[in-house]
Amino acid sequence: MKFPGTIKSKLPQTGTSIFAVMSQLANEYNAINLSQGFPDFEVSAELMGLIDKHMKLGHNQYAPMPGVPLLRERISEKIQNTYQIKYDPDKEVNITAGATQGIYTVIAAMVRDEDEVIIFEPAYDSYAPAVELCGGIVKYARMEPPDYRINWPEVARMVTHRTRMIIINTPHNPTGSILKKEDLLALQHLTKKTDIVVLSDEVYEHLIFDGEEHESVCKYPGLAERSFVTASFGKTFHATGWKMGYVLAPENLMREFRKSHQFVVFACNTPVQHAIAEFLSTEKNYRNLHKFYQKKRNYFAKAIKGSRFKIIPCYGTYFQLVDYSNISEENDMDFATRLIKEHGIGTIPVSPFYHKGDENRVLRLCFAKKEETLDKAAEVLCKI
Ligand SMILES: Cc1ncc(COP(=O)(O)O)c(C=O)c1O
Repeated sequence: MKFPGTIKSKLPQTGTSIFAVMSQLANEYNAINLSQGFPDFEVSAELMGLIDKHMKLGHNQYAPMPGVPLLRERISEKIQNTYQIKYDPDKEVNITAGATQGIYTVIAAMVRDEDEVIIFEPAYDSYAPAVELCGGIVKYARMEPPDYRINWPEVARMVTHRTRMIIINTPHNPTGSILKKEDLLALQHLTKKTDIVVLSDEVYEHLIFDGEEHESVCKYPGLAERSFVTASFGKTFHATGWKMGYVLAPENLMREFRKSHQFVVFACNTPVQHAIAEFLSTEKNYRNLHKFYQKKRNYFAKAIKGSRFKIIPCYGTYFQLVDYSNISEENDMDFATRLIKEHGIGTIPVSPFYHKGDENRVLRLCFAKKEETLDKAAEVLCKI
C-alpha cells in the first residue's frame, strides 16, 4: 500500500538509525552483536520479582502524570545523597518513558522556531532530529579525537542572541569521554546571565571508572538552576527494554516540561515505577555499578590488546572505541559491514554520529556483555 499524496518529510535527511541497521545486519548474519548498547545478561531477579508483586497488588492502571509519588521521592533522596541538592519530588522530578522521551519532551517544551541549539559531535543520534522536528536550528560544536574534549572558547563564539539550549552528555556516548570540573565551570560561566537552558544527558551517571567522579550539573548551582537532567533506569538496571527514566529541573522549567509531557505520553508504566521505587531504597543496587562495568571494560581491553585495533581510552559508559587505521583504509560503514558479513561481529561505525559523516576510522564496541560473549568477540577481533 502507498499514500497517494505528497509527503513533505519533516526530517528529509533522516534514515533508519545506525543502531537498528547494524543490529539487524548482525542478526541476519548471526554475528556476535557488540553494536547496539544493551546488556546480554539478566536483570536482577529481585527487581523482576518486585514488578510481579506490584502487578499482583493491582498497580496496573495509569500512574499519576508526573510519576508514582514514592518513586519521585526516592529519586529526590538519591540525588540529595549523591549531589547534596534537593529537588522537590512533587515539583521538580518527573518520570519518563526512558531518557529518549525525556530528551524529546524537554526540547519540545523549550525550543521554538528558529531557536539555536548547540550540540557536541560526535553526538547521540536523538538530539538533532528532536530539535529539527521542533523547528529549531542545530549548531554543531566538535569534540576532537583522540581525547574528545570540548573547546569552550569555540562554543563561546557560537553563542548568539538566538541560542536557546546547549545539550551536553557525560559520560559520553559514543566516545566514553567524561566532562571534568573545568568543563562544567566553563559552561556555568558561559551561560551566566543568559536565557540559555542546558539539557544534561546523564544516562551513564553510574558508569564512570578509575575513581573519577561524575560531574553532574546538579553539583553546580549556577547550572542546576538552568538545567534539565535526563536519566535512564534502563542503563542503571540493565533493562533497556523497560524504557523508564526521569527528568529533573527547577520548578518553573518543570512546569513547562509537564505541559508537553502530558500530551506526549501522559504517564509511564505503573508496576515498573512501583518496583523501582522499592529497589532504589537499597543504595547498593546502583552504587556499585561502576565496579561491575570497570571490570568488564578491563576484561575486554585486555582480551583485545593483542589485536591490531588501537584502543581509545574509555572513562565512562559501556562503550569502547577502537581505531582500525592499522588494519584498513575503508570507510567505517564499509568496514563495519564487512566485519559482520565476513567475520561475524557487529560493531557501530562512528561517522553517523556526525552530521557530515566525518570519518576517523573509529568503531564503537559495546562491552555490556557476558564474559563468554566478550571472549568470543575478542577471539574474532584478534584475528582481523
Ligand atoms: C547518551 C544517551 N542518551 C539517551 C539514551 C536513551 O536512553 P533510554 O533507553 O532510557 O531512552 C541513550 C541510549 O542509548 C544514550 O546512549
